Amino acid sequence: MGETKLRCGVIGLGMGKAHIRGYQAHPNCEVVAVCDLDEERLAKAKDEFGIPAVYSDVDAMLAAEKLDIVSIATPNKLHKPFTLAAAKAGAHVLCEKPIAMNVAEAREMQAAVEAAGKRLMINFSYRFNAASQALKRLVDTGVLGNVYTARTCWLRRFGFPGFGGWFSNTAMSGGGPLIDLGVHRIDLALWLMGYPEPDVVLASATDVLTKAECERQGKEANTENHAAGFIRFKNGASLQVEASWACHRAEDEFMETHLYGDKAGLVQKNVGGGYNFTAELFETRAGALYTTEIGRTIEPAKSAMECFADAILNDEPTPAPAEQGIIVQQILDGLYESAATGKPVTVE
Ligand SMILES: NC(=O)c1ccc[n+]([C@@H]2O[C@H](COP(=O)([O-])OP(=O)(O)OC[C@H]3O[C@@H](n4cnc5c(N)ncnc54)[C@H](O)[C@@H]3O)[C@@H](O)[C@H]2O)c1
Repeated sequence: MGETKLRCGVIGLGMGKAHIRGYQAHPNCEVVAVCDLDEERLAKAKDEFGIPAVYSDVDAMLAAEKLDIVSIATPNKLHKPFTLAAAKAGAHVLCEKPIAMNVAEAREMQAAVEAAGKRLMINFSYRFNAASQALKRLVDTGVLGNVYTARTCWLRRFGFPGFGGWFSNTAMSGGGPLIDLGVHRIDLALWLMGYPEPDVVLASATDVLTKAECERQGKEANTENHAAGFIRFKNGASLQVEASWACHRAEDEFMETHLYGDKAGLVQKNVGGGYNFTAELFETRAGALYTTEIGRTIEPAKSAMECFADAILNDEPTPAPAEQGIIVQQILDGLYESAATGKPVTVE
């Protein structure tokens, strides 16, 4: 890879701290600047990560720093303007999920980055852990055969992020748990299924528990608390998705993805309500049903940030490219439209 050090800048210091750690783990990356409106977060990040320059204005950072990579980890509403600004300043962009508020914004982002001759990757972070990478390697051996249907969910019994803040304001977030949590589950299922092209979607969503929480806390929020959707793909396969920040069920935090193929099936789920994952493979062999637990991984995985830097340095395809972020966003837009109208929506 030579001696090139990529100059990285990170905007937004909540999830953005994970981006800093990711780049700092790469031998050819240097986080030279960070930007946030929150002075306390800026000061803490400067100390904790030894960042040379801190900014409270994105344009000032872009003008001063000649960045190779810009990471965007701000409220969703700012993904588009900051991507456009970073591309104009000649940087590759790693943008948090969801790619944008809607597919029109996402396409504008992709066009701007392409026009600048740069790359846009989306941080679909749940692909970049060792358990998911191992599962993808297994699925890619063809063990499942043809995957004809899948179901996936991320359900919280009660876990609104920062209730009353930007997450629960659709003008800043684009939506609630479906765009926040469902986005990860849809991406993971699609990635394992080989990203089939969506055709038609149908969904329902409710804000009944959001309203109850507004009343209890005396705060404003206008997103759904639960959404359920059905996606049919052009190849005939389908995916059911469910996401909640609040719903009456046993587990506090429950993530599960099932894939059903004509040769075998699998499930990946989180362990003990946390962020580690386990998986099982289901097969029929010689007249008997077999269940295989997929054990601990021995192959380490690189973070999205390290993978992005590698792709740039080695001139290789970007994992989780904008095109896939756009397909997920098309599905999300369709699901929200269907939930609002009560009608199936053709994905465009
Ligand atoms: N991939 C994941 O697993 C994951 C996890 C959490 C959040 N996210 C995504 O990361 C993004 C940020 O989420 P979060 O949880 O960190 O939110 P957050 O509210 O904790 O952090 C957002 C930060 O952006 C800063 N900010 C807002 N406006 C700004 C501006 N104009 N200029 C500079 N900074 C500005 C805020 O001050 C805040 O510090 C969202 O898109 C979210 O969906 C992804």
